[in-house]
Amino acid sequence: MSVAHYFETMDYGTAPEANSEARAWLEKHNHRFGHFIDGRFVASSSKATFENKEPASGKTLASIAKGTKADIAKAVAAAKSAQPKWAKLGGAARARHLYALARMVQRHARLFAVLEALDNGKPIRETRDIDVPLVARHFYHHAGWAQVMDREFPDHESVGVAGQIIPWNFPLLMLAWKVAPALAFGNTVVVKPAEFTPLTALLFAELAHQAGLPKGVLNIVTGDGETGAALVDAPVDKIAFTGSTEVGRIIRAKTAGSGKKLTLELGGKSPFIVFDDADLDCAVEGVIDAIYFNQGQVCCAGSRLLVQEGIAARFIEKLKTRMTHLRVGDPLDKSIDIGAIIDPVQRTRIEALVKKGVSEGALLFQPDCKLPKSGCFYPPTLLTNVAPAFTVAIEEIFGPVLVTMTFRTPNEAVALANNTRYGLAASVWSETLSLALDIAPKLKSGVVWVNATNLFDASVGFGGYRESGFGREGGREGALAYLKLKNHAKRKLRKAGAPLPEVTSLNPPNDALAIDRTAKLFIGGKQVRPDGNYSHVVLSMKGKWLGEVGEGNRKDIRNAVAAARTAEAWSKATTHNRAQILYYLAENLSARASEFANRIAASSGVTTSMAKREVQASIERLFTYGAYADKFEGAVHQPPLRGVALAMKEAIGVVGVICPDEAPLLSLISLAAPLIAMGNRIILVPSERSPLIATDFYQVIETSDIPAGVFNIVTGSSHTLAKTLAEHDDVDAIWAFGDKKLSTFVEGSSIGNLKRTFVDDGYVTDWYDSKNAEGLQWLDHAVEIKNIWIPYGE
Ligand code: NAI
Repeated sequence: MSVAHYFETMDYGTAPEANSEARAWLEKHNHRFGHFIDGRFVASSSKATFENKEPASGKTLASIAKGTKADIAKAVAAAKSAQPKWAKLGGAARARHLYALARMVQRHARLFAVLEALDNGKPIRETRDIDVPLVARHFYHHAGWAQVMDREFPDHESVGVAGQIIPWNFPLLMLAWKVAPALAFGNTVVVKPAEFTPLTALLFAELAHQAGLPKGVLNIVTGDGETGAALVDAPVDKIAFTGSTEVGRIIRAKTAGSGKKLTLELGGKSPFIVFDDADLDCAVEGVIDAIYFNQGQVCCAGSRLLVQEGIAARFIEKLKTRMTHLRVGDPLDKSIDIGAIIDPVQRTRIEALVKKGVSEGALLFQPDCKLPKSGCFYPPTLLTNVAPAFTVAIEEIFGPVLVTMTFRTPNEAVALANNTRYGLAASVWSETLSLALDIAPKLKSGVVWVNATNLFDASVGFGGYRESGFGREGGREGALAYLKLKNHAKRKLRKAGAPLPEVTSLNPPNDALAIDRTAKLFIGGKQVRPDGNYSHVVLSMKGKWLGEVGEGNRKDIRNAVAAARTAEAWSKATTHNRAQILYYLAENLSARASEFANRIAASSGVTTSMAKREVQASIERLFTYGAYADKFEGAVHQPPLRGVALAMKEAIGVVGVICPDEAPLLSLISLAAPLIAMGNRIILVPSERSPLIATDFYQVIETSDIPAGVFNIVTGSSHTLAKTLAEHDDVDAIWAFGDKKLSTFVEGSSIGNLKRTFVDDGYVTDWYDSKNAEGLQWLDHAVEIKNIWIPYGE
């Protein structure tokens, strides 16, 4: 063979990575692993095990303990007893431990990279150059958070014990995303790795222990979904889950009302948008990375290619040519692009979905690439001629399968991109930065990459909108998931509602008879009668007739949600504009202060001076949020690349608000104002006991220039209306303050579209305490954070 021959073919030889060290580690453990609990390996209580296989060969790698409820209980107990000491160590000492973990990962980088490639089937090129370096980066970054925790989060403390459930697609990286922040902020953890890929978690635990991590701080219980479910049920303080939307829903339902903090990082069907002025060759490389990285088994994979019509044919041709050069093969071969699919179950799922796509009319393209004879492999696949309603355009395939559609205008691109129930990531390609930056805020996703894809960093929060879950992992944005407010320890459970007053007079006073005094609902900027045409009498604390309010029902909620949807312009209004309107609202309330004070005194039975105090506090609160409207800003992250990531704080959208009975005006304002200030549109259900405060308040709204549909008020039964709002798929979030039962069913009923929930678990907020009842912790709940990555340079 001559040099000329090689020059002509430009073919790659094999470049296998040695795996002897990883095999020796497996050998050292006799290819059998128990759980890692309280600093050592222990057998499963049931002795049940399962086989862990190598996807590239189908051969067994190890026998793994299948965790039972008893194993989970043991691990949680170990984590619980270790936690106070770990928290008390202090940030600086914990930082030392996290640095040690980062250095440990770097020292054993090759071993981790090879073991991960063996266990998962992903190319060594990726584990070596992406997964493992990012793992080390996560521990370094979070060591820094431990160091500065007390200064940066003076009002917060550790949550306690975190149960962390991890998927198989990035086993070690997902462990780092979860373990690093948890440990940094003084929590201890029980990790349940995915059944397909437990090895690197076990290696990590073993080496972490050798690196001096105190026992009980990091516990690993291996097993399947049942083991995961046992962890969700266990008495932990927080659950962090990454995996399928289906399981995310189950976990949301199970944790409802438990008071456990929850973050869910779920699936996606992310758009990859190519405008006609994009650098097409770069964009082709981007697509290859977006969908064939990790065999497409990536939650944020750019699996829907949207190309502007004028360049579509040329772009697809280029893409097909590039696809013919992809090499599928042994994950430990350094010159392959695509490794093995995790398991035959997953490959069958991919095959079935591709078949379905073809049967619906898609055109299939697979390059003529050689697949290894044994093991679990699937070729890179492109489906063209796809319509938005095709199953393959809707469902997450989680394999190397790209579907493509075209668009004509930027607006159409946005509409197609957002035409999904998910909202994890998006990629926008255009050489016109102003166009890309105009599109980015319009995309409903937690991450947007401009002229790039699959960029991740420990300093930049990652997480989704809509059915891609809630919460962020990484950076300051991810910190709050592992912290709780110190004052929460002092909260008191709300007492069961005070008995209703004895009825002394159900008759309106004579002067009220002449006019219709039934307060209506306030929907879309108009006072409207309730759909059912029912109303009920509101009594004073002394049992006297105060007025009547409409009894809102499901249809009224539907109308209010529709009105809120159409008021989208509010979310795009300038922050200056929103601030002005909140000040105006405060001024108008101030002008009617004594009238409100009288109403409060009559309906909630407090003294007139207390009622006056409540009105004054409400006015102050409106001013506070008017002030914050243009000050609660995002951040510019500087991850280690030439570029920035803009962490934008965006309105969540349409939010349902259930108000408690105490301090009926002040609690209403305290809940509504941060949401309105951040650009949300709300459907508010006022205190059931004192609803007339809210119906008086809509007269203030009417005179304050708040656009129609931004602030809707529906009176009626808090529980019934809360359920309707929680179940409504066009409501993006719900805040519910009231008894514990309310929190439980609001969280449990929110699983349809996995809306974000903010509940008080039945604990009373002291609404007069401005340190706790207003401020940043409320604003955090009123926004979504979107990270827009903008790499720059030639
Ligand atoms: P999965 O959601 O079932 O598994 C993820 C993790 O959750 C694993 O550790 C599993 O043992 C655990 N788990 C399963 N059932 C549980 C339960 N009831 N309670 C608590 N934990 C439970 O995902 P699976 O079956 O591995 O993959 C199915 C599909 O999910 C994939 O085809 C893909 O579409 C999607 N997926 C998405 C991921 C993402 O990163 N968004 C990751 C993995 C899968």
